[in-house]
Amino acid sequence: MKRALAAAALCLHAAAAIAAELPRGDAEKGKGIAAQVCAACHGADGNSPTPANPRLGGQIEEYTYKQLMNFKTLAGKKPERESPVMGAMAAGLSPEDMRNVAAYFASQKESQGQAKNKETVFFGRKLYRGGDAAKGLPACAGCHGADGSGIPVQYPRLAGQYAEYTSAQLKAFRDGQRTNDPNRMMRTIASRMNDKEIASVSDYIAGLR
Ligand code: HEC
Ligand code: HEC
Repeated sequence: MKRALAAAALCLHAAAAIAAELPRGDAEKGKGIAAQVCAACHGADGNSPTPANPRLGGQIEEYTYKQLMNFKTLAGKKPERESPVMGAMAAGLSPEDMRNVAAYFASQKESQGQAKNKETVFFGRKLYRGGDAAKGLPACAGCHGADGSGIPVQYPRLAGQYAEYTSAQLKAFRDGQRTNDPNRMMRTIASRMNDKEIASVSDYIAGLR
């Protein structure tokens, strides 16, 4: 927990910078973009109908905006978060569009899912709430909130997300395929997790509300 808080403190500057450059988006304008461009994969209200695409409903506005910026290729540089699909989507959006669509999804109903594996859900909960001190694994709750609703502006909502998506992201952080986490926070954490821990905590998170 102490470790988590120290890492969180390190991030305050980055968080303040994001907040400063982000005037509130206009959810009404964002709604149009969502309907035309995003709905096919993420659902009109962000509650994606399939685990292949993450749920965005109720996500913290600043986080969604940051991800969209990170997917975008700027001035010929490699995007900070690589995804062929989302790279193509972000290419067509201005920063203002991104703010508006992020505000729209933030205003939608929060995602709800379900834990499916009775055998691992308690282990998942233990990791989520308490981490594993022996492995230097901090509690997820320290940054993402006890109920998984995230902490604005820096820490995303996880609750209700598809387990398939959560575990794919944890593996991407572990393998160094996803590198857009400030101060390597998630890469450091995921590098200490084995497949069983990733599967259990992802399943638990799907049922959090
Ligand atoms: C063709 C399908 C498709 C469309 C259309 C699409 N997305 Fe995505 N989106 C994806 C997939 C797949 C991912 C997961 C990428 C990954 O694995 O990193 C994703 C990821 C995201 C994420 C990251 C979520 C997180 O929790 O980090 C955001 C934000 C996002 N999309 C927003 C949008 C917005 C806004 C639009 C419309 C402008 C849009 N997407 C259109 C398929 C799509
Ligand atoms: C020290 C703070 C901290 C702790 C502790 C922490 N996280 Fe994170 N996590 C973050 C930050 C910051 C991000 C956002 C990275 C970015 O900006 O792309 C994040 C992102 C994520 C994402 C990606 C979400 C998405 O929608 O794509 C997942 C999944 C995640 N964390 C799971 C976990 C799990 C599981 C644990 C516990 C084992 C955990 N985190 C512990 C700070 C933390």
